[in-house]
Amino acid sequence: MDGNGRWAKLRGKERVYGHAEGIESVRAITEACVELGIPYLSLFAFSEENWGRPQEEVDAIMQLMFKSIAAEYETMMRNGVRFVVLGNRAKISPALQDAISTLEEQTSGNSALTMIVFLSYSGKWDIQQAADRMAAEGGDSIEPYLVTAGYPDPDLIIRTSGEKRISNFLLWQAAYSEFVFTDTLWPDFRKSSLLAALEEYASRDRRYGKVK
Ligand code: IPE
Ligand code: MG
Repeated sequence: MDGNGRWAKLRGKERVYGHAEGIESVRAITEACVELGIPYLSLFAFSEENWGRPQEEVDAIMQLMFKSIAAEYETMMRNGVRFVVLGNRAKISPALQDAISTLEEQTSGNSALTMIVFLSYSGKWDIQQAADRMAAEGGDSIEPYLVTAGYPDPDLIIRTSGEKRISNFLLWQAAYSEFVFTDTLWPDFRKSSLLAALEEYASRDRRYGKVK
């Protein structure tokens, strides 16, 4: 989800205004995924690197997360959305950690859509923590130690706002993901944008390194 800050700047507003509008896009895209029967929606909300932004912006983003977690409970239950947060939880404030755990428990029985919010996440961090735990336990395969263990790898990764890079998202798990890049800024990314991305995805020929 990229382009919140630019979206706000284009309107002569503070960056946080773009983050707030970005939450409206999350709501719209989540609803669209439920409607379309898409079983998993992963959202890269905040990277390990994002902690290095000005404290004021970090605080504003965490505050928005906190508020929307409380606000979305009923809609999630109504739509059968299971909420999951993956990332380096130790860095998240205890109050937000508690709110996250509570919503995860409350929605754990829902099965229409699993919404995975990647928070304080980076692909290199994930591989490192998996390798460390694997070594400690004497395991011999990385995958079961990744925080995404048990979840399918993403079929499609959409990057908004014109950037064409992976920015430390799912490095391991994106091995065979299809990518769609769009200039649309995240706060403008709504159902029609998702449908356009899905259309593009549908035209791809996935061979997984093999011959068809
Ligand atoms: C995405 O929008 C939200 C987060 C990374 C938290 P940005 O904040 O990166 O917006 P731009 O890229 O500065 O426009
Ligand atoms: Mg950005």
